[in-house]
Amino acid sequence: MNPVGGRISGIRLAALLGAWRRGTRQGAADLAAAVELQVLDGHLPVGTQLPAERELADALGVSRTLIGAALDRLREGGLVASRRGAGSWITAPGGDIIDPALPEREDTIDMSRATPPAVPGMAAAVDAARHLLADELGRTGYTGQGLPLLRERVAARYTERGLPTTPAQVMITNGAHHGFVLALRMLTGPGDRVLVEQPTYPNSLEAVRAAHAIPVPVAMTDEGWDFEGIEAVLRQAGPRLAYLIVDFQNPTGWRMDEAGRERLGRMFARARTSVVIDETLAELDLGNEVAPSPLGSAILVGTSSKSHWGGLRIGWIRASEDILARLSSARFGLDLGSPVFEQLVFAELLTQPARGRREEIRVQRDALIDAVRTYCPEWTFRVPEGGLSLWCKLPEPMSTRLAVAAASHGVQAAPGSRFGVNGGLERWIRLPFAHSPHRLTEAVRRLSVAAASVRDCPGELPVT
Ligand SMILES: Cc1ncc(COP(=O)(O)O)c(C=O)c1O
Repeated sequence: MNPVGGRISGIRLAALLGAWRRGTRQGAADLAAAVELQVLDGHLPVGTQLPAERELADALGVSRTLIGAALDRLREGGLVASRRGAGSWITAPGGDIIDPALPEREDTIDMSRATPPAVPGMAAAVDAARHLLADELGRTGYTGQGLPLLRERVAARYTERGLPTTPAQVMITNGAHHGFVLALRMLTGPGDRVLVEQPTYPNSLEAVRAAHAIPVPVAMTDEGWDFEGIEAVLRQAGPRLAYLIVDFQNPTGWRMDEAGRERLGRMFARARTSVVIDETLAELDLGNEVAPSPLGSAILVGTSSKSHWGGLRIGWIRASEDILARLSSARFGLDLGSPVFEQLVFAELLTQPARGRREEIRVQRDALIDAVRTYCPEWTFRVPEGGLSLWCKLPEPMSTRLAVAAASHGVQAAPGSRFGVNGGLERWIRLPFAHSPHRLTEAVRRLSVAAASVRDCPGELPVT
């Protein structure tokens, strides 16, 4: 096989790998494990051309011998192939393409994704949708902005949440991510800046980069959003677009209050910067307070993925009719609409109360909190009032090393670096509460063992 993908620079690969080193003697093994983690996560697709050994050694501040030994390991494991003159590139064991969504090893607990299973009412909704399908079969199946029934129900939900909305202001998409990609396509071009929170949802960062735009981070603080920081970026960097998650921010769990939303709306209007607000987690409110209203001046992207099931792949965009008309045109370059049956299923699910799911997730959140307090008492966190994840501060910068070690203890984990624009965030780890209490407890127990192994072998200073 020959290299077929893009080339990654030494500096970018170093940023992706984070602080990978676990000990002084295991350098090559740790580096190989860190590269493998990125391959399994889909950040280094098969075919990606790796930097030359010297370039990578310089970027990582290690010797070429260590790089050579790590590459030997990766070649032995079938993850890298090399040829004189062509360099080294990512490959898949046996020559097959590695699926980033590899099935979990039976005993491995996947703590890298915040993706709960389907709600219990799914089977009944599928049955109900089957009956509604009869009416649709005589039509073309191309639903344009989406099935009227579903758009009505999504619009009604916004009106209930305090933002009066008509079906004409709703477009059905294939998930929230799809909605964001559409907005990026419509509003940004190569080289444009996009304001993002730091940390933020990694796939959105990928989407910004894939659009050849430049993410400009504003760090979250111990009190939530840094409004002055946002204002400064608006003034100094002139971003074309901002992407924010104001409801149970992924990964920090913060929710912006009503006053913050109003302030944000004013700031963006003054700067004439468009805003996409990702409402993926908005319905997972585990507290009892009155929820702040959605920000009507923004482009809102939402989804059924967390509230009901990611397998539906149905989401929406809520925006002005004018913006939706432009988004519809941008969409023709990408796809021609969302599947009818799944839209019917979601329309049905929206008639059911969401209370059951929230109760289940609250129990999971509390079990995770108990487990962290029991097994990892030095890790600190703020209890989120909703969403799906606990953003934990570690006692030392070790997140990537912990994730690498966790893999050999049967836990897939998402290190903090994954949520940063240029890596970093090594003091943080995201722990989602999307498993049963029993599994979450076991995952944290294993993580505590992995953390102890990492702290017993503190990282080595780079070889200069
Ligand atoms: C903040 C955020 N946005 C978008 C998504 C993806 O949503 P969807 O499955 O609807 O594309 C996720 C999934 O984890 C998320 O956490």
